[in-house]
Amino acid sequence: MTEQRGNWTSSAGFVLAATGSAIGLGNLWKFPFITWENNGGAFVLMYLVCIMAVGLPIMMAELLIGRSSQKSAVGALKEAVGPAWGVLGLWGVLCGFILLSYYTVIAGWSLFYFAQTVGWTAGGFPDGLQTGDLFGEQVSNPGLQLVMSLGFSMATVGVVYFGVQKGIERIARLFLPILFGILLLMLFSALQMEGSGEALAFVFRPSFSELEPAGILEALGHSFFTLSLGMGAMITYGSYIAKDQSIVKASAVIVVLDTVIALVACLIMFSVIFSVAGMAEQVGGSTVGMLFISLPQLFYTEVPFGTILGPLFYVLVALAALTSTMSLLEVVTSYVIDEHGISRHNATILCGAAVFVFTIFAALSFADVPVLSTLAVFEGKTGWFETADHFVSNWMLPTGGLGITIAAGWFMTREKSEAELVDATTPAWFSYGAWRFFIRFVAPAAISAIIIAVMFFGVDFS
Ligand code: PFF
Repeated sequence: MTEQRGNWTSSAGFVLAATGSAIGLGNLWKFPFITWENNGGAFVLMYLVCIMAVGLPIMMAELLIGRSSQKSAVGALKEAVGPAWGVLGLWGVLCGFILLSYYTVIAGWSLFYFAQTVGWTAGGFPDGLQTGDLFGEQVSNPGLQLVMSLGFSMATVGVVYFGVQKGIERIARLFLPILFGILLLMLFSALQMEGSGEALAFVFRPSFSELEPAGILEALGHSFFTLSLGMGAMITYGSYIAKDQSIVKASAVIVVLDTVIALVACLIMFSVIFSVAGMAEQVGGSTVGMLFISLPQLFYTEVPFGTILGPLFYVLVALAALTSTMSLLEVVTSYVIDEHGISRHNATILCGAAVFVFTIFAALSFADVPVLSTLAVFEGKTGWFETADHFVSNWMLPTGGLGITIAAGWFMTREKSEAELVDATTPAWFSYGAWRFFIRFVAPAAISAIIIAVMFFGVDFS
């Protein structure tokens, strides 16, 4: 007897779960950093173009592949496109596995900073504390890293264990409104700061002379990561959508919410940075700098209501990360359930434990552990963590995304994709012909540019 496959209870439940997958460390950690590095405005505009021209069509493609077959990534591609395409699904499962293994480590950092900020709120920010040193100490403390990432892994397993409705959807319904609420509070506070005008101009006033061609590719590469595309997560979530829900509408809502949240995160962080003399020159150099080095201190010295917002902010990061890690684990688990006939409970524990072995490798990458902290496969990347991140962001997601555009645009029959996208629920603005053009030509061409840039021009998305 196979267990009955779950379904989302409603369209809203699905949209929240998928939006939760999309909104994550990519929005709060990576996007503000790359926007800063690429000088704002023009980069943001290019990012919006990439999201609309490449991200949105692929989101629809993944969801329709999932729903048409009601199977997880491997089975869905086999059934909707053809037996050989199962390999692309496996590639996605592998990608989900690796991404989850190190994403959990960063998510664990948010727990550490939550505990720290609660302590500072209660007892005051310690005199003379250097947050850069604090960050260095915590990442290189192997015991601490293991405990935090184990805690986070267990939370992820705990959600996925209860399945699509009682686990994933329930947590998304509970946490996303909290997440939006905290962000709104923070935005409100940030906009009171004197640097907010400059932040708004930085994000929304494009100056094309400041945008390098590599920045355009970076925007494109990030649009995959931020929308959870290229590795079957949306295929898997799509497989639980009921037939009477509109994939087109849902895709649009998910993409818009993800984008708005990324922009809000920028406005919050940049308002703080521009308000502090000399801060703009100090920030940068590393992705972790803003979130885990500059901000913790600024909450206690500059931000209005910072003593309350500090801990809340790290709750926000943890919640955003959890709604993403649960989708990553679901990709791997649902594959094992569907293709190997193992029960959900056993599959979740098995997959969670297997991923955690690799999380240990990533968690110890910053401590002085032989091989894990010194591994050097890719130029300029040292240690297991950086190697895994480089491999996933530069190689796995773009190739997986390219595969999906080709599968949906060139190998899936027109009748099949049209039947999923066009029905009574489809909004008037949607044109199937336009979608088909983007998925067959525009998206593959754009992704090919990424792959060529990585292979021949040393562009780095990690
Ligand atoms: N979209 C997530 C983020 O922006 O942090 C990352 C991610 C989650 C990618 C889930 C892929 C995925 F399946």
